[in-house]
Amino acid sequence: MSFPAQRLRRLRRTPALRRLVAETRLGVDDLVAPLFVREGITEPQPIASLPGVVQHTRDSLVKEAHRLSSLGVPALVLFGIPSRKDPEGSEAWNPNGIVQLALKDLRDDLDDAMVLIPDLCLDEYTDHGHCGIVRPDGTVDNDATIELYARTAVAQAEAGADLVAPSGMMDGQVGAIRNALDGGGFNETGILAYAAKFASALYGPFRDAVDVTIVGGGDRKGYQQDWHNRGEALAEVRADIAEGADIVMVKPALAYLDVIAAVKASTDVPVAAYHVSGEYSMLKAAAERGWIDGEAVALEHLTAIKRAGADIIVTYLAGEVAESLNG
Ligand code: PBG
Repeated sequence: MSFPAQRLRRLRRTPALRRLVAETRLGVDDLVAPLFVREGITEPQPIASLPGVVQHTRDSLVKEAHRLSSLGVPALVLFGIPSRKDPEGSEAWNPNGIVQLALKDLRDDLDDAMVLIPDLCLDEYTDHGHCGIVRPDGTVDNDATIELYARTAVAQAEAGADLVAPSGMMDGQVGAIRNALDGGGFNETGILAYAAKFASALYGPFRDAVDVTIVGGGDRKGYQQDWHNRGEALAEVRADIAEGADIVMVKPALAYLDVIAAVKASTDVPVAAYHVSGEYSMLKAAAERGWIDGEAVALEHLTAIKRAGADIIVTYLAGEVAESLNG
């Protein structure tokens, strides 16, 4: 008598059996919603390449945060679009700049119901669209830039940020921000570091959302990571943690599941992944044509990001996925 073949299908027979043995569970608690607030508008503005996402007014932002909070989404990342851009991006640290005002609105209204995480970068605020100070030769000056990040971190902390999220990929940015926060009396304000952020072509729709065009058709390959590399991501993560990062993030997500897994295996701090604008837009475009089931693919993609090792997922799908997980 021969041994029976292994019966792997027994545990797949019913939905309850499948639920019982599921190794990865995506929950509302894992989700962070990115939101945009724009200065000087009176009605929310749709973003053509990000269907369902808008540039908010200060009022509509607070309403949307309430909706997300009542769905159980624990956190939001906030991006500002100022009316005035200049070479330094000075609206980023203006105490009356749009993100600072919006953070105060959110804190007043929500108290501690949501974790408030302003993105900390200069590209939304500079007239040339780079993430820092541009030298005459067109390169970005690392050390001059991180001084401005440090200033911005203090302004964001003063306005009520729980965590600041530096996304500019300058060397030493986390250390400079940690020092400035501690020096300003904000030792309770944490840092979610965009640690392994790749120079991806998937950020296109985001740049529409924040009205950013990089001058002269330039790119960010001089400071964001080259997507041919994985080991380098671990070096970035190690450096950020040594400088004081509380959470490290990999970005984008789906094409970088190997990086997420390697980062998770290399550290004990929470690991976040950013499911970026291009990933969202591809899904929405195919779903709109009826070529894929958008809701099913959304759950499959976000669960895969979690399975790879992400503890936290930043995604434009947060609201709708929270609705389907709650429903
Ligand atoms: C930089 C920043 C970018 C994104 C988040 N923070 C754009 C960039 O690096 O060019 C992209 C997010 C997305 O594509 O959803 N402030």
